[in-house]
Amino acid sequence: MATVKTSAPVALVTGSTSGIGAAIARRLSKDGFSVVLHSRSSVDAGLALARDLGSAAYLQADLANDAERVNLIRDAIGVWGRLDVLVNNAGISRVIPHNDLMAASPDVWHELYEVNVVAPFRLVAEAQSALREAAVRGKAGCVVNVSSHAGVRPKGASIPYAATKAALNHVTRLLALSLAPDIRVNAVAPGLVDT
Ligand SMILES: NC(=O)c1ccc[n+]([C@@H]2O[C@H](COP(=O)([O-])OP(=O)(O)OC[C@H]3O[C@@H](n4cnc5c(N)ncnc54)[C@H](OP(=O)(O)O)[C@@H]3O)[C@@H](O)[C@H]2O)c1
Repeated sequence: MATVKTSAPVALVTGSTSGIGAAIARRLSKDGFSVVLHSRSSVDAGLALARDLGSAAYLQADLANDAERVNLIRDAIGVWGRLDVLVNNAGISRVIPHNDLMAASPDVWHELYEVNVVAPFRLVAEAQSALREAAVRGKAGCVVNVSSHAGVRPKGASIPYAATKAALNHVTRLLALSLAPDIRVNAVAPGLVDT
C-alpha cells in the first residue's frame, strides 16, 4: 500500500466495524482525525465505514495471532506515514455463569487472555516508536484501552472475561508509568452498552 502523507493526526481503532469501536471511529473522524479501521473478519462493514468516513482506511487482522498484530501496526503506520492514537477496543467475551466453574475451561481462559490482554500490550509495543514521534511533533502519543466495568467490580459475562479486563486495567497503569510523558496511556471502563 502506498503511503499518503497527511497533516491530520492518525488514529487506529481496533475492532471498529461495529459497536463501541465504530462509534469511537466516527467521533474521531468528526474531530478531524484520519482513521484506520480494523476488524478480524467483517471486511465489508469495514470498507463501507471507511468510504462513509472519508479520510479512513480499513485493515483486517486477527489479534489472536501475533504475526497479524505486527503486520497491523506496520500497515496502519504505512497508510499515512504516522500514528498518533491507538485505541485498543477489540475484545471478546464468553457468557458463563460465575458458579459454573467447569465451563470456564483453560481454552476459554487462554482465548480471552490472548485477545483482551496480550494483544493490546503487543500493539502498544509495536506502535511505541511511532507514538513517540507524535510527541516530537508536539503532542504526546495516546493509547486508550477499552476495558469494562466488569474489570473493576465483581460482575460481568464470565469470570475469565472480568479477569482479563482487570488485568488490562493493571497493564494500563503500568504502561502509563513506563511510557510517560511521550505517550499517555489510559483506559475507559464502560458498563453495559447496547450495541
Ligand atoms: N458492549 C458492552 O456492553 C461492553 C461493555 C463493557 C466493555 N465492552 C468492551 O468494549 C469493546 C467493544 O465491545 P463491543 O460490544 O462494541 O464489541 P462488538 O460489537 O462485538 O465488536 C467487537 C469488534 O472487535 C473485533 N474483534 C473481535 N475479536 C477479534 C480478534 N480476534 N481480532 C481482531 N478483531 C477482533 C470484531 O471484529 P469481527 O466483527 O470482524 O469479528 C469487532 O470489530 C470490547 O473490548 C468489550 O469488551 C463492551
